[in-house]
Amino acid sequence: MAASAHDQQLPEAISEEALARIQASSDSASLEALRVEYLGKKGRLTGALRALGSLAPAERPAFGQRVNRAKEALDAALAARGEELRLRRREAALEASAVDVTLPGFGPTPGRPHPLSRTLTEICDVLGGMGFTVEEGPEVEDDYHNFEALNMPADHPARDMQDTFFVGDDRVLRTHTSPVQIRVMERQPPPLRIIAPGAVYRNDDDATHSPMFHQVEGLMVDRGVTFAHLKGVLTTFLRRVFEREVGVRLRPSFFPFTEPSVEVDVGCVVCGQRGGECRVCKGTGWLEILGAGMVDPAVFAHVGYDPEEFTGFAFGVGVERIAMLKYGIDDIRLFYGGDLRFLRQF
Ligand code: DAH
Repeated sequence: MAASAHDQQLPEAISEEALARIQASSDSASLEALRVEYLGKKGRLTGALRALGSLAPAERPAFGQRVNRAKEALDAALAARGEELRLRRREAALEASAVDVTLPGFGPTPGRPHPLSRTLTEICDVLGGMGFTVEEGPEVEDDYHNFEALNMPADHPARDMQDTFFVGDDRVLRTHTSPVQIRVMERQPPPLRIIAPGAVYRNDDDATHSPMFHQVEGLMVDRGVTFAHLKGVLTTFLRRVFEREVGVRLRPSFFPFTEPSVEVDVGCVVCGQRGGECRVCKGTGWLEILGAGMVDPAVFAHVGYDPEEFTGFAFGVGVERIAMLKYGIDDIRLFYGGDLRFLRQF
């Protein structure tokens, strides 16, 4: 007995179910699985077509057409859903790798002055404001300007303290900025009021000494310059540089090129002069900050100034020392390491 079309599952029913499942599918793998399930060689619609042979010949064309319409509908739905899922994937991928072009960009990182340059500039600004003009001298000096004319003849024991780098007969890397005093007085009659900032060199190297460091020299010569002027200038200078009312203390000392000579202390800027356990001032409350004195007449004799008519004072200050105290830096080598993590803090 020939099977009737009604024994088969109706193609419309199969396709209705398939269309719903296609619409619900969420990725291309499950979509492909549906295609195989319905339209593959052993698929359910394909199977319906194969059943055609068991139908009465009169029913075959109409049934065949219904199966074909169902297949076309499924093909179209598979393609449409496939395209939809492809677009959705692309959108998700774009969103995941999204660049928000409306965000502000990274600006260029501006450079900034090195803490030593900054300290040096501050020192020169303060003294410049007190009438001192900047002079310069050579870093490779001769023995005469670095020692002899500063009242340190060849056999003078004070030379020992200067750990000199010799670069030739009679040539040294200047051990201090004091030779600039001589060079300026040689070419210029009094009165004068100058500072000489620059690099100096000594054979010394640890956490608080560098073989190259910086000093600022000061020199004022005029009629009637006294020790009181020196004290006034230094006190004002130190309070402005440290930007607070630091205590200032003068202790008798010795330099060959000044008489009398002093070492100048400031109240410890780390512990606020309390002393106690402070490691920076070792509990004394004071920090030695510079050397100074009244210009020795023997120095004036070397440059042809008349010590009966003119007097003057001089001082020399270490730039690294001031910067270390001002910014709380405990190792001088940080200044020369070029470490941006250090430098960016200023
Ligand atoms: N030149 C000295 C040094 O480097 C510092 C110094 C002390 C400079 C006393 C001066 C001064 O002008 O009067 O050790």
